[in-house]
Amino acid sequence: MPVLTPTLLNTERLALRWPEERDRDAIFAIYSDPAVVRYWSNEAWSTLAQADEWIASRRAGNADGSGVCLVVTLAGSGELIGTLSLYHFFEQSRRCDIGYAFGSRHWGKGYAYESLHVLLEYGFRHLDLNRIEADIDPGNAPSGRVLERLGFRKEGYMPERWIVHGETADTVFYGLLKSYWDTKPS
Ligand SMILES: CC(C)(COP(=O)(O)OP(=O)(O)OC[C@H]1O[C@@H](n2cnc3c(N)ncnc32)[C@H](O)[C@@H]1OP(=O)(O)O)[C@@H](O)C(=O)NCCC(=O)NCCS
Repeated sequence: MPVLTPTLLNTERLALRWPEERDRDAIFAIYSDPAVVRYWSNEAWSTLAQADEWIASRRAGNADGSGVCLVVTLAGSGELIGTLSLYHFFEQSRRCDIGYAFGSRHWGKGYAYESLHVLLEYGFRHLDLNRIEADIDPGNAPSGRVLERLGFRKEGYMPERWIVHGETADTVFYGLLKSYWDTKPS
């Protein structure tokens, strides 16, 4: 994938940029919240060092082109409200995965849709991706709704794909092709 210069994407309400060291408290607040990680395969974070490691690894991935990770901030105040990633790039197939998480007090305001929309546009136009995939827990209805609003199509169901905290979890698998994106009604 092309190596990125520090990326800034904007929407009406939001500014998306590379994570920076000064974001540690805000990022920790998101990933230490059990409500945010409820459907993930990791435990909620318990130390600020986890935020430091996350920021360093995501910045390194952005710098070497192995991923695209941006934080979502409110355009007016600069408050950090969420994170978005494109990762697991398969260059020859022009394919990757997508991930996202927002602080729970910012849910239900359309920020995920708005920021993912501009990231997908960047992925298809600037990174020349052909296909983007998402793997979500069937219980994560808000995540499924945002994916479907963005044009992702449900492609499959994989029972017991994960074992989380000793319990099996199923996957609903979604895909978005560039051809769907190009013909999506705006
Ligand atoms: C998944 C997640 C990002 C979805 O967030 P969200 O706030 O529901 O999604 P959006 O920002 O697109 O908001 C959409 C909701 O806001 C409402 N809304 C309010 N104002 C809006 C506006 N101006 N524009 C669009 N939608 C608006 C919509 O009606 C919609 O509500 P609905 O889903 O009940 O119909 C969020 O639940 C989250 O961070 N979860 C934890 C992490 C996670 O599970 N990530 C995914 C792992 S696969």
